[in-house]
Amino acid sequence: MLTNDLILRAARGERVERTPVWLMRQAGRILKEYRAVREQAGSFINLVTTPELAAEVTIQPVDILGVDAAILFSDILVVPEAMGLPYVMDEGKGPRFPEVVRSMDDLKRIHVPDVADALHYVPAAIKLVKQDLNGRVPLIGFAGAPWTLFCYMTEGKGSKTFSVARRSLYADPAFATALMDRITDTTIAYLKLQVAAGVDMVQVFDSWAGVLDAHTYRTFVVPGLKRICEAITEVPVTLFAKDAWFATADIAALPCATVGLDWAQDPRWARQVVGPDRTLQGNLDPCVLYADGATIARETARMLDAFGPQRHIANLGHGVYPDIPVDGVRRFIDTVKEHNHRK
Ligand code: CP3
Repeated sequence: MLTNDLILRAARGERVERTPVWLMRQAGRILKEYRAVREQAGSFINLVTTPELAAEVTIQPVDILGVDAAILFSDILVVPEAMGLPYVMDEGKGPRFPEVVRSMDDLKRIHVPDVADALHYVPAAIKLVKQDLNGRVPLIGFAGAPWTLFCYMTEGKGSKTFSVARRSLYADPAFATALMDRITDTTIAYLKLQVAAGVDMVQVFDSWAGVLDAHTYRTFVVPGLKRICEAITEVPVTLFAKDAWFATADIAALPCATVGLDWAQDPRWARQVVGPDRTLQGNLDPCVLYADGATIARETARMLDAFGPQRHIANLGHGVYPDIPVDGVRRFIDTVKEHNHRK
């Protein structure tokens, strides 16, 4: 039994006494306690693959910040790794794939793995987190969306345009479809593994949705998201497609519980497009949290009023930046918890 199930009730569209709040990337470098464990782990990948340490940093934001949910500490890139494409995390630079997948021939190296084996450290961490949380708040599991993983696997690293990934959609559609299908199959198995281990809801991050046009997103990406939503029936699913305002209606048509919004989306416009039957999550500009406390409180209140008191999960419009002051983060969380909606 959960003592605080506000987020789950909000996701399911049940009444809540107040708006629940968590932050994307809350388990990370904003906390000095995270940086200490990260140092102890030696490397990012070691932290991700050591269940005791991953569990510890998962729980830190619940204890230190008072958020209404924990999110499993991991990374979206563990899925390509399990499929046969290991990543490296260059200090201060981000992730990189020493090898890439760009052709039918390359696809021979990529398989749909037995996730329980290849990603065994994930359910192990989930079980430790659930024990330690002891019902205080729900645990959110996650995966990268197939398109975002496709971007990294073909490009090999971050990119502003992901033009290698986009090119393959038009230049070699048979390859692109085959790779997307394999990623989607693995993602479904991986999310089901997390659910079986005990996560209470899941979020799918389509961080690079915004590099595609509306038609291509609808025809090439949405079918995979639909398969994921239809497969995960046990817990609420949140779809977060960043910079993809053009796809908001398509996403809202899928059987997901919650639609995540980046900060560029107008909450009132999104509510109109999405309709009344989905929960919205977001969407304060993370940069607001660099401001003084009064500004943070004012902007947060403005956002809360725009969404209204029900069917909303407060969050930022993207992950919290590593150098945002913890005091700013606290001010955001406390403002949500104390907000009185204008009747
Ligand atoms: O608190 C949480 O949200 C849980 C942990 C989490 C991480 N990555 C840990 C992490 C989650 C949910 C992710 C998701 C993720 N990873 C996404 C999707 C969300 C988004 O931000 O759009 C993406 C695109 C990645 C890939 C990735 N991992 C990048 C581009 C980077 C480098 C940029 C950065 O933030 O440093 C990472 C590294 C990473 N993943 C760190 C953390 C805490 C920082 C590395 C470190 O601590 O050494």
